[in-house]
Amino acid sequence: MAQFVIQGGAPLGGEIAVSGAKNSVLKLIASAILLKGETKITRVPQAQDVFRMSEILSSVGAKVESDVAVLRINTDSITQTTLPRELVKRLRASTVLIGPMLARHGEVRLAYPGGCVLGKRPIDLFVASMRVLGAEVEEREEEFVFRAKKLSGAEYFFPFISVTATENMMMAATLAEGRTIIKNAACEPEIPHLAEFLNTCGAHIIGAGTHTIVIDGVAELHGGEVETVPDRIETGTFAILAAAARAQIIITHCRPDHVESLWAMFDCMGVPYTIGQNWIEIQKTDKPYKAVEVTTKEYPGFMTDLQPPFTVLLTQAQGMSLVHETIYDGRLFYLDKLSTMGAYALLCDPHRAVVQGPRKLRGKQLESPDLRAGIALVIAGFIAEGTTTIDNIYQIERGYERIDERLRGLGAHIERINDVKS
Ligand code: EPU
Repeated sequence: MAQFVIQGGAPLGGEIAVSGAKNSVLKLIASAILLKGETKITRVPQAQDVFRMSEILSSVGAKVESDVAVLRINTDSITQTTLPRELVKRLRASTVLIGPMLARHGEVRLAYPGGCVLGKRPIDLFVASMRVLGAEVEEREEEFVFRAKKLSGAEYFFPFISVTATENMMMAATLAEGRTIIKNAACEPEIPHLAEFLNTCGAHIIGAGTHTIVIDGVAELHGGEVETVPDRIETGTFAILAAAARAQIIITHCRPDHVESLWAMFDCMGVPYTIGQNWIEIQKTDKPYKAVEVTTKEYPGFMTDLQPPFTVLLTQAQGMSLVHETIYDGRLFYLDKLSTMGAYALLCDPHRAVVQGPRKLRGKQLESPDLRAGIALVIAGFIAEGTTTIDNIYQIERGYERIDERLRGLGAHIERINDVKS
């Protein structure tokens, strides 16, 4: 077990570059299953979830070569259709392999992706949308089995918006016979980016990035090359860190236009910033920040993945803020940890919390409950008095590459201690 040890209160400043998005590259890796020949993916973040996804592909027979930020994948050699149970259990996003495996290999077996600290997270939409395309789905005690001799295009209205279920259906439909129309599709920037890449490989997808996606299936797709889109969650996380630490920080290699909902909140709070085409500078101010009401929503609404770091910022705002988490049932439970650091954060029900600020935070020994709550505790550690120790940092490293090293570049006092006895 490794941990982060943080000394709070160090002045932060400087420049930090954003990595490729974990939530983009995972789908690009999955899409390689649809493609004949080699797929080259660049700007690949060295994050644990990315390693797990690559391991799943290797374990079913694909050739995966990694050279730092470049992945070369050839899935022509896939021989297995059973995904390894242990890896599937560790990576919820393995569900985006269902559509590509079905479309190219006619079968996929996978364990239940399992519970998750964020709440129930069932895969009923994956099952329903694959059935609409003609797949048979068996739900056994220990696993799902999806089979299809061929997939046929069809129309499907998602009863509610799901990012990965949209991506999964869009990928499956590229090799289905005829036209598929996905309605009430998710619009997150990773989706049009994935569609654009698939189109360069011979797919016919229009409308990705809107709520209606139309896919005309083709018989075959060929390999290609794609650069991962900049991580909008990392961009927002660094911006929130700068605001919370009252630091002047320039965030580079990013797409500020993918994070507009956060800038709107910064406007309401009085956090000063300047936006460029691929950078954003957060400015230092001594003025108090104003409390706000924030509601998480599908894109372009306020990202649920930024809710935990943003809530840490709200502990520093003047007055009473309201946080309304609408996407997940279990994404506010880290608040008990934040409260032990001195925050006033009252959980009203699983979806709503009240935060009263500004409060001085103090360092604590804590465990990272999940990826985004984990990085929120890191930010809390930087603005707290004293030492904060965070255990279970695998959860943080699932999505942020070399985060300690990169934050040290801003002046942060954070150390990664390896092999701590649990
Ligand atoms: N849902 C179902 N049934 C399904 C699929 C989803 O009930 O078959 C529910 C989920 O339980 C959730 C809601 O639908 O309550 C919406 O979740 P969605 O399916 O959109 O989430 P996801 O596709 O599983 C992706 C990101 C998440 C991010 C959400 C929302 C990836 C790999 N994951 O998950 O990222 O929070 O969209 O934007 O793209 C993270 O990076 O920390 C993370 C959790």
